[in-house]
Amino acid sequence: MEKTAIIHGIVAAGDRMEKAILILGGGKIQAILDPGADPSRLYPGCRIIDAAGQYVLPGGVDGHVHFGNTDEVPIADDFFTGSLAALAGGTTTVVDFCEPPPGADPLACIEGRKAFAKDSAVDYALHYSFTENYRQELPRIPEILAAGISAFKVYTVYPNMTLQPGDLYCIMEAVAGRGTLLVHAEENSLIECMKERYRTGKEDMTALALTRPNLSEQMAVEAAAAAAKLAGAKICIAHVSCKETVEILARERRAGNRDFILESCPHYMQFTSEKLSGPEGALYTMNPPLRSRADADRLMDAVLGEEISILSTDHCPFLKSHKLGKTYDTVPCGVDGVQIRLPYYFSEAVLKRGLSMDAFIRLTSTNAAKFYGLYPRKGSIAVGSDADLVFFDPEGSWTYGTDTQAGAADYSIYEGLRLRGRCTRTIKGGRTVMENGIVSAQKGGGRFLRAAMPKA
Ligand code: URP
Ligand code: ZN
Repeated sequence: MEKTAIIHGIVAAGDRMEKAILILGGGKIQAILDPGADPSRLYPGCRIIDAAGQYVLPGGVDGHVHFGNTDEVPIADDFFTGSLAALAGGTTTVVDFCEPPPGADPLACIEGRKAFAKDSAVDYALHYSFTENYRQELPRIPEILAAGISAFKVYTVYPNMTLQPGDLYCIMEAVAGRGTLLVHAEENSLIECMKERYRTGKEDMTALALTRPNLSEQMAVEAAAAAAKLAGAKICIAHVSCKETVEILARERRAGNRDFILESCPHYMQFTSEKLSGPEGALYTMNPPLRSRADADRLMDAVLGEEISILSTDHCPFLKSHKLGKTYDTVPCGVDGVQIRLPYYFSEAVLKRGLSMDAFIRLTSTNAAKFYGLYPRKGSIAVGSDADLVFFDPEGSWTYGTDTQAGAADYSIYEGLRLRGRCTRTIKGGRTVMENGIVSAQKGGGRFLRAAMPKA
């Protein structure tokens, strides 16, 4: 078996960051050697990669991406271009979604999404999203689990997906002990009421934030937390955008509740709702919307304090031409993020604000792998884990821009952002698929990951 030795790197193995030699072979991590070992003697003919001055980390796991759709307005990235962007930024595993159209058969939908993902260059797992037809879907849970999916999702907004707190409770009861539940939490009735209020005169994108206030997230999170506790379900609040949700988390933790966790994304920490003003405001639209500076800062503090457990992206970019010229309630919502996620937090949380490297790894890789039943195959540098790695160089700084963007979107909300440190190499399944910004991954090199029951 052909072997590769990674030498001189500072390796994140277990909870420690220390110099070690990694031996890769057959797509797996075969051995972790003392830095003084001689890999060429132990594995004659092995390929050597010198990682001097670099951190060698488990490949990123992005627990929330939307790589393409079949709707009227197409998401700019499909599985291939989205996975190029992921690999460019050190992410080797993603969790995408199977979202059934009205009345669709769950298993047919899962098979359809897997077929849609055939060109993926990253390994991927899927969430199954329950619809308003969930009463017919719940009895199919054993078949969904048998198809390799133990991550479920519910929405409280969007046509065909709008579930009320009572619906959530019924779903949580059915999912408890069998899988995890990601909750898109915005209280729809409040949003509808706010839309009435702003019907006249507020057609620009600032109306997105006015009609979907912090309270809409807070109300939906409170309802989901209460229902999950009663149902005994393990839930994660998706793309947390506001400080109120962090306060709910703090309260739940004080009460000893470890089955309630938070996911958030870089855009909620980097930008505020001021971006929604003006002619380009549409480019910054997503649900829930951007918030105030106080919210953004509280979220970054929640990263540093690990009150947020999973840093994902909700990567869902659209072309400029599909975003511009729309009203706040017709604009396709979603932005890019999968390429910048790891570099963003490495720069903004680790280098600028002192987040420890082991916390960085937990937040960007290990916790998602555990929550989605992919650990220790993913999210870990250990003998037997997949040889998915990312190298980070803490030196230097650079500017993020569309010239470095590997996906298919024609703009990035992060264009012009100055970042410290950089991701220099991505290895997937033992092969280098990105080196110094050049992605060389093959179409279809990624595989569907059958999820096990999540780890605590
Ligand atoms: O605006 C967003 N977030 N679009 C993607 C779908 C979702 O809500 O996750
Ligand atoms: Zn969502």
